[in-house]
Amino acid sequence: MAILLTGGAGYIGSHTCVELLNAGQEIVVLDNLSNSKIEALKRVSEITGKGLAFYHGDLLDKETVEKVFIQNPIEAVIHFAGFKAVGESVENPLAYYQNNISGSLVLFEIMKSFGVKNLVFSSSATVYGIPETVPITEDFPIGAINPYGRTKQMIEEILKDIFISDPEWSITLLRYFNPAGAHLSGKIGEDPKGIPNNLMPYIQQVAIGKLDELKVFGNDYPTPDGTGIRDYIHVMDLANGHVKALEKTIHRPSLNIYNLGTGTGYSVLELKNAFESATGQIIPYSITEKRPGDAAACFADPSKAQRELEWQALRGIEEMCRDSWNWQINNPEGYKETKLTAEVY
Ligand code: WQD
Repeated sequence: MAILLTGGAGYIGSHTCVELLNAGQEIVVLDNLSNSKIEALKRVSEITGKGLAFYHGDLLDKETVEKVFIQNPIEAVIHFAGFKAVGESVENPLAYYQNNISGSLVLFEIMKSFGVKNLVFSSSATVYGIPETVPITEDFPIGAINPYGRTKQMIEEILKDIFISDPEWSITLLRYFNPAGAHLSGKIGEDPKGIPNNLMPYIQQVAIGKLDELKVFGNDYPTPDGTGIRDYIHVMDLANGHVKALEKTIHRPSLNIYNLGTGTGYSVLELKNAFESATGQIIPYSITEKRPGDAAACFADPSKAQRELEWQALRGIEEMCRDSWNWQINNPEGYKETKLTAEVY
């Protein structure tokens, strides 16, 4: 039996491929490469010494999605594929609803038609909006405040309705906090298109000289140093969370929701300082205006995942900074463009 990873060539998807292959799983990746490169999957095979099947296609292309299920004995799906830039979603909401929602509906319809009812969904802490208090537990009120977050929230609701309609489905919703870091080898990592939206890749590019300075979005939040606090989680810990979630999902039909975070928050300046300490690189910065929609503080209570998935984050902020920098210095221009050769790596 095989596990299908939609968006498996992306940042979190590729790291999850490594952990699934290392756990002995057979995997199939479907990715339209709109925000990733095939080189990432070649590196996955280099790291693990194992192959995988790759299909270059979009979830809106029903024929290609059906081909995946016809040609492979899919036992479960981990659904990563989706646009994920908050600012871009505000500028172009229709593209986000079409890609993220309609694409998911095609996938779920085809899963249903092939009798594949095991699903792990890549959700996000963004569904909580601006939390009243922290740490955040899974029963906190849901209220995304941007189109990207609303697509995640709507897909969660769709999956809850599917489960109610057919309890044979087994669905796990994983709400990620702030992924950061890279595989220890430095062969795979976060390779954002254009100017990074997120803090860690932005810091990395300042460190390597691609960007002049870090712009700290506001320093008058009600936090100890005035800058925004977030729950950064090492991408390898996140990948392991998917392995654990998959085990539980396949074990028996249910619907479960888990926060995947460390439970520890770091401010922007604390992360900058940690990066400088871990790498010896100086990060010049200036304080600028707050970014609309940003919360002062957002971090997880991960105890439910610890209890029910027997999972917890093991890597700290230093490792996230060290591993991010190792990826960046080994790949100053990110992944190179490589020609699509075979569909198996
Ligand atoms: C972190 C902190 C910023 C950049 C987003 C998405 C979320 C998830 C993770 C997909 C904040 C500050 C940032 C910069 C800064 N993505 N910052 N200067 O906004 O918590 O979450 O990414 O699922 O859904 O919403 O992450 O890295 O953008 O910001 O000062 O150049 O760093 O204000 O306090 P965020 P982020």
